Amino acid sequence: AAFYALVPAAGSGARMGGEKPKQYLPLAGRPLIWHGLRALCGVARISRVFVVLSPHDADWVAHDWSTFGTKLMPLFCGGATRADSVLNGLRATADQVRAEDWMLVHDAARPCLTSAQVDSLIDTVCRDSPGDGGILALPVADTLKRADEHAAIATIAATVPRSGLWQAQTPQMFRHGDLLRALASGKDAQAIEAITDEASAMEMLGFRPCLVKSDPGNLKVTYPSDQRLAEWILQQRGE
Ligand code: C5P
Repeated sequence: AAFYALVPAAGSGARMGGEKPKQYLPLAGRPLIWHGLRALCGVARISRVFVVLSPHDADWVAHDWSTFGTKLMPLFCGGATRADSVLNGLRATADQVRAEDWMLVHDAARPCLTSAQVDSLIDTVCRDSPGDGGILALPVADTLKRADEHAAIATIAATVPRSGLWQAQTPQMFRHGDLLRALASGKDAQAIEAITDEASAMEMLGFRPCLVKSDPGNLKVTYPSDQRLAEWILQQRGE
């Protein structure tokens, strides 16, 4: 089976509070999304990297992507939610990707991914979980509290034991046909809003994806402080 990557980048980045969608915010001298695309394009086994953009995207053409050559392919088919964007991207690539080929879905908002982390995901999934796929993830380090939803101020209702809990990251790697079926059935069941990552859609169909230990450097840029941390990480690596 061949390997492909798909990067949903059709969000508005409302939590960053700016005008520009966060995938285009400047980070270490490049648009934020550029760095994750570089890590994915740098993996020799990955034949092509698809980027799912909003049909109204006005920023993509303003930047220079030529260093990635024909390995990079933009698709202007983003949807209302992240899961919709991924589903549309899978449908748009169904004519060039076989059902048994691997799709590595990676958030545009995780710029500090390295090609070595991608290689470790691919190696582990192919060895240990070729039927179910897998994701990069990180064991939870903090003590977790569940809030009392009915209290007037945020009050602790319970402490959630953190042992056995992992934070899901991306890439998340599944067979194209399985993932297409999982997201399409999530949409039919009107559960698409609840599908915040690919693995959750796969779990609903009974798949048991494996967890491949990542590191905290593969952070998701959600708030402005994350942007500064991500920039620092990239600079430490000399990027
Ligand atoms: O907003 P959040 O950080 O959860 O978004 C995760 C990823 O999903 C981002 O790369 C964002 O651009 C993408 N996304 C998308 N289509 C949407 C919403 C988010 O491709 N409708």
